[in-house]
Amino acid sequence: MTRIFSGIKPTGHLTLGNYLGAVRRWVEVDQHRADALFCVVDLHALTVDHDPGRVRRLSRQAATLLLAAGLDPARCTVFVQSHVDEHARLSYLMECTATDGEMRRMIQYKEKAAREQQRGGSVRLSLLTYPALMAADILAYQADEVPVGDDQTQHVELARDLAVRFNQRYGHAFTVPRAVRPQVAARVMDLQDPTSKMGKSHAATAGIVYLLDEPDVIRRKVMRAVTDSGSGVAYEPDTRPGVANLLDILAACTGSSPEELAESYDSYGALKKDTAEAVVEVLRPLRERHGELCADPGQVDRVLREGAERARALARPTVDAAYSAIGLLPAL
Ligand code: AMP
Ligand code: TRP
Repeated sequence: MTRIFSGIKPTGHLTLGNYLGAVRRWVEVDQHRADALFCVVDLHALTVDHDPGRVRRLSRQAATLLLAAGLDPARCTVFVQSHVDEHARLSYLMECTATDGEMRRMIQYKEKAAREQQRGGSVRLSLLTYPALMAADILAYQADEVPVGDDQTQHVELARDLAVRFNQRYGHAFTVPRAVRPQVAARVMDLQDPTSKMGKSHAATAGIVYLLDEPDVIRRKVMRAVTDSGSGVAYEPDTRPGVANLLDILAACTGSSPEELAESYDSYGALKKDTAEAVVEVLRPLRERHGELCADPGQVDRVLREGAERARALARPTVDAAYSAIGLLPAL
């Protein structure tokens, strides 16, 4: 059976981008067709300035939202990365397999490091080595497929390269994984700045829809979305990114295509109104279920405990074998 692994970083409240670009597919498709693991990757949240209490709260909230969105612990494994030591253990071997140049070529590192330096801040070493930890996340479980949005494909490619290299040098230890991309709304853009991604780590703005936003807040954000000055509604992502983003979101919420939808609207106002309502309806059951789970914290605790146990049992033999293959003396 195909093994799937994916992760979500607790660096901010989950957004509509996370849902349409990743989580919804995990729920609707991946957990039914494969042996899937979904991980709140809290170690990755420490690669940038962070507040300990906030990371802890966001980790729990992310796990709760994954369950609220419909991940079913009877079908898949939901857990928190730091509960399973194997991630950090294998990450070190990945650092011993990757090169410095390879890490520095990562677009996300270059962008984040440049931004940090511009602000006069310092860059944590873990921001550079992040892809080694991400490769460990994936390879520890012998994952075949890694569902991620566009921005993460480069990191999955690197995990592939590291798996191949390790296997060649030390004997077969890892399945070579591949990135799989969702078909619609792979990249949801910020409603106020449709040329940049709707990201949960960004400062809160009116351009980001959070999964737990109240319906009225969602309506307000969508109605105020930046569009362009062209006339009529057309799907032209390069020249009219604001309208294209609304069409992508509406298409993802209603299961139609953005091109078709463009033909059925002639005003931005009507498009925004329908998009707002579609988003409110898609998120409504999720918000309700989240409320129920928060009222029963023992249930979330249990899911995370059992998830970590299962994950540990899967990862340990692989990581032990890799330790042995690379030349480390097994502990007796
Ligand atoms: P992150 O928020 O960076 O931890 O991403 C978690 C998952 O959501 C990854 O698979 C991302 O590629 C995906 N994702 C994050 N933001 C967006 C977005 N605006 N549009 C589509 N997918 C996204
Ligand atoms: N780097 C991913 C992101 O920022 C999160 C992540 C960490 C991940 N480890 C992973 C995704 C392993 C897929 C598989 O979105």
